Amino acid sequence: MNIGIDKIGFSAPNYVLDLADLAQARNIDPNKFKLGLLQSQMAVSPVTQDIVTLGAQAAQAILSEEDKAEIDMVIVGTESSIDQSKAASVFIHGLLDLNPFARSIEIKEACYGATAGLVLAMSHIAQHPNSKVLVIASDIAKYGIASAGEPTQGAGAIAMLVTADPAIMILQDDNVCQTRDIMDFWRPNDDKYPRVDGKFSTEQYTDCLTTTFDQYKKRTGKELADFAAVCLHIPFSKQGLKGIQALTTEDEETLNRLSERFQEAIVYNKLVGNIYTGSIFLSLLSLLENSQTIEAGDDILFYSYGSGAVCEIFSGRLVPGYKEHLQTDRLEKLKQRTPLSVQDYEKIFFEEIQTDEKGNAIDLPKDDAAFALIDIQDFKRIYRKN
Ligand code: CAA
Repeated sequence: MNIGIDKIGFSAPNYVLDLADLAQARNIDPNKFKLGLLQSQMAVSPVTQDIVTLGAQAAQAILSEEDKAEIDMVIVGTESSIDQSKAASVFIHGLLDLNPFARSIEIKEACYGATAGLVLAMSHIAQHPNSKVLVIASDIAKYGIASAGEPTQGAGAIAMLVTADPAIMILQDDNVCQTRDIMDFWRPNDDKYPRVDGKFSTEQYTDCLTTTFDQYKKRTGKELADFAAVCLHIPFSKQGLKGIQALTTEDEETLNRLSERFQEAIVYNKLVGNIYTGSIFLSLLSLLENSQTIEAGDDILFYSYGSGAVCEIFSGRLVPGYKEHLQTDRLEKLKQRTPLSVQDYEKIFFEEIQTDEKGNAIDLPKDDAAFALIDIQDFKRIYRKN
């Protein structure tokens, strides 16, 4: 049975900061961000937008009423949880009015969580071929004002509908994983922002990639030249480029070809920033919607990396007609976001919801986005669907 991605959607908050402005404010050469990190802009989320609203928005963009009635599992991968107990997927399930007889869970392992969700979805469909599983990757990446990671921040969500006989991509069930108990990026419970061993994290990203790919080649007999493109976790675009270069040390034709496809696979990531669990799938969406070269039948290699660390390499094959299930105006929509000054971005960065002693929100700003946090009452988050 063929199982894979039947639909894929994306949402980002409506605010954007240009990294040239950020560089100027931080007294840094703008080329460090533009060429050194290969990033141009970052999405900025107000307090009324969180992983629930972004995830619901990404899913709403792709689901039909029929899908909503047939989905029997909702998985949210995230490392920006809004509750230590209740899964974000339960809120999203409610906001989208999904089939009540569904399972809803949240998965955490840094930027790798949604890949684990995809694997679980595949197993579920293999056992229940008529089921549909909604896998959402939703995150808000915040490192801190004037931190080294600041220009790599971002926010957004990807939603994927996983089914039998998918319309976009068949997942090949050739996955190879690796787990390494390391401290390259982590967030203790009481910390607002992650702690990062930046250089170590970049080394581990690349070493996990090359060692897992060696194992992947041994187990599957496949070579890099077999793939039309590679989609990697993109903490910032330069990291992904270095990953491709680390995989292709000898074959120059393959390196050049994959580097060209890589530029198409980072069009959206460069404008949105790191969305942690969703970054690899945002890169897939970018490739699918911006490449004139890839075609049905092509195989795409994936490298998912979550600090801490767990990684996974797997592949997918494009299905005939996949282009009909994509959007053509996404870049245009990204250009229509509201630009922020650095001062406004900093204000939003530090904005926190104030609550009284009974857990009721005080002066929560109004937000007319399709999905928004509209109140907190008795410590309960309340969302609205417009
Ligand atoms: N013009 C052009 N390029 C310039 C430049 C200029 N004026 N100034 C610097 N550069 C280049 C540097 O040469 C460097 O490029 P190379 O790596 O190719 O040599 C690049 O810009 C970045 O410069 P630095 O290494 O000096 O940057 P930094 O130390 O200030 O920050 C970082 C880099 C540590 C990765 C930081 O962005 C960070 O902490 N990011 C968060 C952690 C992260 O993303 N890690 C990635 C792996 S972990 C992961 O993938 C999980 C996840 O999502 C977090």
